[in-house]
Amino acid sequence: MNINSVVSKMTLKEKAAQLTQIQLHKDNYEAVCELVKKEAIGSVIVAANLTAGNTDRTVITMAQINHIQKIAMQNHGVPILFGHDVIHGHRICWPIPLALSAAFNPELVKESYTYIAEEAKNDGINWSFAPMLDVSRDPRWGRIIEGPGEDPYLGEKMAEAVVKGFQGDGDSINIAACAKHYIGYGASEGGRDYHKAEISDYSLRNFYLRAFRSAVRSGAATVMNSFNEISGQPTASSKYLLTDVLRGELGFEGFVISDWAAISQLVRQGVVENEKEAACKSINAGLDMDMTDNCYFNYLEELINENRVAVETVDLSVKRILSIKEKMNLFDEPYFEEKPYSKEKHRVSAREAARESIVLLKNENNILPLDKNSTVCVMGDMSLDKRAVLGSWSLDFDIDETVTIYDGIKSKCKSCLYFDCLTPKDATMDEMSQTDVIIVVLGESDKITGEANSISGIELNEHQKFIIKSAKRTGKKVIGVLAFGRPRALYDVIDDLDAVLYVWHGGSQIGNATADIIFGDFSPCGRLPVTMPRVTGQIPIYYNCPPSCRDEDGYYDKSLWKPNYWDVDSSPLYPFGYGLSYTKFTYSDIKADVTKLTLQEIEKGKGFIISVRVKNMGAVASKEVVQLYIRDCVSFMTRPIKELKGFDKIYLLPDEEKTVNFHIGFEELAYYGQSGQLCVEKGDFKIFIGENCLVKRSITISVI
Ligand code: NOJ
Repeated sequence: MNINSVVSKMTLKEKAAQLTQIQLHKDNYEAVCELVKKEAIGSVIVAANLTAGNTDRTVITMAQINHIQKIAMQNHGVPILFGHDVIHGHRICWPIPLALSAAFNPELVKESYTYIAEEAKNDGINWSFAPMLDVSRDPRWGRIIEGPGEDPYLGEKMAEAVVKGFQGDGDSINIAACAKHYIGYGASEGGRDYHKAEISDYSLRNFYLRAFRSAVRSGAATVMNSFNEISGQPTASSKYLLTDVLRGELGFEGFVISDWAAISQLVRQGVVENEKEAACKSINAGLDMDMTDNCYFNYLEELINENRVAVETVDLSVKRILSIKEKMNLFDEPYFEEKPYSKEKHRVSAREAARESIVLLKNENNILPLDKNSTVCVMGDMSLDKRAVLGSWSLDFDIDETVTIYDGIKSKCKSCLYFDCLTPKDATMDEMSQTDVIIVVLGESDKITGEANSISGIELNEHQKFIIKSAKRTGKKVIGVLAFGRPRALYDVIDDLDAVLYVWHGGSQIGNATADIIFGDFSPCGRLPVTMPRVTGQIPIYYNCPPSCRDEDGYYDKSLWKPNYWDVDSSPLYPFGYGLSYTKFTYSDIKADVTKLTLQEIEKGKGFIISVRVKNMGAVASKEVVQLYIRDCVSFMTRPIKELKGFDKIYLLPDEEKTVNFHIGFEELAYYGQSGQLCVEKGDFKIFIGENCLVKRSITISVI
């Protein structure tokens, strides 16, 4: 198909419509059909309000969507893209993205999203507004649960996994992915949603942009702008960010959609007087499609006629959109067909993802795993919950699919009581005191995570603390199963818990996955994708900070760290990359194939192979996340004390030993330096390999 010739035949009104996304929900179906008949609408978002994925998708059927598509094809010959927030599942719910990141297993994530795509497509969705790639250092921010956590490298891996999971590996696109929110949304001040971000160019390139660069490289069809401003310019009106950086530096060739009403919001943000000016600024900045605002639809024609917007600018945006539609083969196959899929296969995948994402934070005297002959008492507000444990963006999910944590545990042990005094399942105090162990299941509502759901403190609430203390007072061993979306500050409860499993908002299979781990059918192998502070006041606390003028080692070494707060230890409660298993691994024999390479060799693509031996010393087969961190010892600009630059999740049988190899080349050694260009500087680099970011085991390689 010749896109140029299609565009050359379009009227200005048709072009403006093609750059427009309209809303579709149960109450406006007829109106949408009418509008699509008249105008060449580019896209439809299945959404009743501004959080599309929090809208019950079942209200619109595939037949209705196909009908709308038919109207578009018959009247304009251009297919419509049907978008929706398919964030971590569609009918079956996988763990929230932050938890998926904790799995440190990109292959598993990619496979999960191929299944998720199957479900969404069967519901008439061919464009998902995911992955969310906002790395964040602030767990107060409700949307931290939707992103990869605090680390750019992990963000890069998640970006690739989700984009390829949705879109497929090849050139054609199955479901279009949308890398969002471009850029810096995760840095909103104070963790307040929609707030401004302050990001230097240095941090922008070395930290925030990296996951987006990876999404672009992986072929992401679309990018969504973020609501925040940076350095006094909202992203929706920033030519620098949307064109110079995104297209010029990152090489993005797809199209950019605004976030919900982000164009008209420019008026509120104070950079334009009215919606017409907003449309003018956004289209000239490089924002191609307008989500639900109608600013382009209403004003582009006028703006072109007034010579305020060049017709070539609009044409370019239309061509970008049509190219994606072509890559999706929508001109030839615009309609959705039901393709049966195996629900059971999806359940298995969701269970695997959930158990790989669970992080064992504490296991005093190896109390876990429990014997299946144990008698167990379960208590706490999340034990029987079916909705909160699915996390945010959950209205599409089939709630009957949720296996509660209580049911999961009950299915595996000899006897399981429930104690809370509130439901008919409740055990009496007497019965409780007969059991071997108490499992306290606590968590947070999905309503205080996600969009517009930030909190000012991340400590547990008084009721939760009371439950933990009460359990402890029985004198029994107490296991905490914590189903939260974000990291929480556990400082004042951690000593009362003998073991802690952080199960996140783990999705439909959370109960089975938790029980698999509690009873030893699976050894925990999730690792923290974000630092866990002791108290809220430590935020922001993150592992990849530069050395300070006084404390070179950051939070890595308590003894070296001067008390920058008098009232709390400066280290986090648990560091980035941390997590226990039911076995111990030893690392040995870390070496490099060569220890010196010239800068020219590195620039030509040569690299170091760093290897390490990892051995499972225990009696249990388990996965280990072998993590590689780099420190650029002396550089023109400061570099982080350590930066994750590789990881490998390996499976080891008892006594088994494996060699793990990492390639360290230009990509891994480079940073965006003074000129804003990616560069490697001569000098020494320390390479650390181990079990989390506190690892000390290292070798030094040199670029000469
Ligand atoms: C606003 C959210 O910020 C964005 O992530 C989402 O995709 C859109 N609403 C559509 O629901």
